[in-house]
Amino acid sequence: MTSPSLPGGTWTLGDLTVTRFGYGAMQLAGPWVMGPPADHHGALAVLREAVALGITHIDTSDAYGPHVTNRLIREALHPYPDSLHIVTKVGANRDQRGGWPPARDPESLRRSVHENLDNLGLDVLDLVNLRLGDAEGPRPGPVAEAFETLVELQQQGLIRHLGLSNATPEQVAEAQAIAPIVCVQNMYNLAHRQDDALIDALAEQGVAYVPFFPLGGFTPLQSSALAAVAARLGAAPMSVALAWLLRRSPNILLIPGTSSVAHLRENVAGAGLALSADDLAELDKVGG
Ligand SMILES: NC(=O)c1ccc[n+]([C@@H]2O[C@H](COP(=O)([O-])OP(=O)(O)OC[C@H]3O[C@@H](n4cnc5c(N)ncnc54)[C@H](OP(=O)(O)O)[C@@H]3O)[C@@H](O)[C@H]2O)c1
Repeated sequence: MTSPSLPGGTWTLGDLTVTRFGYGAMQLAGPWVMGPPADHHGALAVLREAVALGITHIDTSDAYGPHVTNRLIREALHPYPDSLHIVTKVGANRDQRGGWPPARDPESLRRSVHENLDNLGLDVLDLVNLRLGDAEGPRPGPVAEAFETLVELQQQGLIRHLGLSNATPEQVAEAQAIAPIVCVQNMYNLAHRQDDALIDALAEQGVAYVPFFPLGGFTPLQSSALAAVAARLGAAPMSVALAWLLRRSPNILLIPGTSSVAHLRENVAGAGLALSADDLAELDKVGG
């Protein structure tokens, strides 16, 4: 069931309808996405509040913690409502220092899909993104072997839909020549607009674009234009940034992260902000 109060309405990923306002679970793990959260019950409360608000799209990964956010999601929400769709990603491990080394060989990908199933308590994963590139961003290079491994797991019935993350447009095209994808999850926000052309191309194909770091990630978005528009509207800058993303293109799905119930509520309420043509023109300067 979709809450009519959630800004942005819904989008269909393959055959799965989700609210365009989703939730990104990465911030629920400990500092630098390693280890357990300082406030275990607070983390469970955020997840339960997301569902109570009507959110039906949660983004996660077994690399968060590692294994921490998936287990929190299971503890907070299992058995899951039919309407809830949990999107995970595979293709990176964690090392002792908190790094994200790639793990895209077939054996690592198979193991990671099974670990996600176990930790989330699912028989089938709704959507799995193949994470490419590295912590610095997308890197060119072939994706066929890794993507074909996920297609095999999909054919075995362990995955419903596939997507890519941290991908170049060329890698998106290479994967699409092998099998359909329903989303691309890349870094994008008001200040980082390198994927503008990709977003428009995917919109024409009916493929979702899911910006990670919609609020700037570990470095919160800061800009004088954003602050000016927010002040004029009497809104929080984070609200303006989310409302702008919803306006940017109908295929954009939001997965802002937070470890705070208050911030989650503020973001849901704020993303519905109406932006005028003047506001949009001013905000365009942020990424210019
Ligand atoms: N595919 C990939 O490689 C990749 C990479 C990174 C992230 N992701 C996904 O993208 C999701 C979103 O990214 P993200 O969580 O890293 O970054 P984000 O959504 O851009 O920003 C999250 C940060 O903003 C703060 N925040 C949220 N709402 C706020 C508010 N109303 N007021 C003040 N501060 C607020 C949060 O702090 P509080 O906790 O204090 O609210 C947190 O520090 C992640 O959860 C993850 O699922 C994917």
